[in-house]
Amino acid sequence: EKQNYNAFKELDSTMTEARKIALKGCSDFTTVVAEKQNKGRGRGTKSWDSREGGLYFTWIIKPELPLAYHYIYTIGAVAALSRTVNDLYGVDARAKWPNDLVAPEGKVAGVLSEMECSGEKISWLNLGIGINVNNKLDSEDRTSLKELSGHSIDRKELLNSFEEQFRRMLSRETPGSIRAMWENRNSTIGQAVRLRSEQEGLLTGRAVGLTKSGSLIVRKGKIETTALFGDIYEK
Ligand code: BTN
Repeated sequence: EKQNYNAFKELDSTMTEARKIALKGCSDFTTVVAEKQNKGRGRGTKSWDSREGGLYFTWIIKPELPLAYHYIYTIGAVAALSRTVNDLYGVDARAKWPNDLVAPEGKVAGVLSEMECSGEKISWLNLGIGINVNNKLDSEDRTSLKELSGHSIDRKELLNSFEEQFRRMLSRETPGSIRAMWENRNSTIGQAVRLRSEQEGLLTGRAVGLTKSGSLIVRKGKIETTALFGDIYEK
């Protein structure tokens, strides 16, 4: 067993527990995982349904990249997860901006990040990842790896392969090539999008790419706007 692997039967949220551990100090890729969460958090004000059977964890990462590149960790994780589920189960699930993994049948996984900085250096970055694996689903816009593959999934094997894939990516690739990997495995670019962004309000147009820092570039006519946060709505 890895020393930096912290498994719990239940937690309110792995984010809260990971934050405590990060503040005390810990090694890169310390993992906090819970069988179920009582107050699983999604992005913004959303909650994350965290009943038994899913995979709910937070990685505490000690980033090498400076603050301006923090987004690379989120899109890198989604790209690495997309590859992992394809390699292991033949499931074709793609990255949806900003931090979801989706199949045509629905959302498979989401990533939530939290970090602490000192100046331009990130002290720690916590990536919270929720994956619908063998769990029952609460809504129509979600699907699970079990549904998509037709069999139940070994969550330990999934977590190990995902970590291996992601760490290999971080050690070998550059921010630019990680962005390219996300772009190769995404379902957003090229699509007509309707996006509500905290910064820009309502944006409609065609998604044309990501900026260096991970913002989505949306084009309408000749005008390009970038959105750093937001949610994409279909048509
Ligand atoms: C989203 O799609 O809105 C992000 C969902 C993130 C859910 C995970 S589950 C593990 C970690 N702990 C939480 O409370 N949330 C994240």
